[in-house]
Amino acid sequence: MDFRQAARKRDSSWHNAPVPSFGPNSARLLIVGLAPGLQGANRTGRPFTGDYAGDLLYATLNKFGFANARFEARPDDGLELIDTRITNAVRCVPPENKPVGAEIAACRPFLSATIKAMPNLRAVVALGRIAHESLIVALGERPSRYGFGHGARHQIEGYSIFDSYHCSRYNTNTGRLTPQMFEAVFASVRAELAT
Ligand code: URA
Repeated sequence: MDFRQAARKRDSSWHNAPVPSFGPNSARLLIVGLAPGLQGANRTGRPFTGDYAGDLLYATLNKFGFANARFEARPDDGLELIDTRITNAVRCVPPENKPVGAEIAACRPFLSATIKAMPNLRAVVALGRIAHESLIVALGERPSRYGFGHGARHQIEGYSIFDSYHCSRYNTNTGRLTPQMFEAVFASVRAELAT
């Protein structure tokens, strides 16, 4: 809270508040990110908008027909998600971009509510271990029963869960996640939704 209030004082034109989910509630696909980036969603108010992670995410979504091609990293760029909604496990930018357990737990009811508000939901992509674990708990299961791994798939409560390494600049710069690895996850999601 102090962190956010200080940020508000520093630049009152930034969003600096909980970032709402983006995309229609009627979607069959939900993507769960980690938390708003300081200069990304925390500045612009739209998930994955304004930092590197969004460049890779929205290009990939467009490639697999989950978004139009209008992404220009501005909330008024005309970007539309298709059959897809994006949310974050943590709703406010955390200090040092590293959310602590208490914050993740405090935000989990919002994740549960997001899931419950999606009547057609079939597939969920968890970006990174924190999103994966919070999602598993939100679905009433124990993370120890469902290991996180890039490309791992789980079936919980009728939902198909797809794990991916987070599309952060760090992960792509270090080669932990390549665009091809990321695309493979969304190719699997597309195949699942075609059934
Ligand atoms: N921006 C978001 O909204 N979420 C992330 O996980 C990373 C960047």
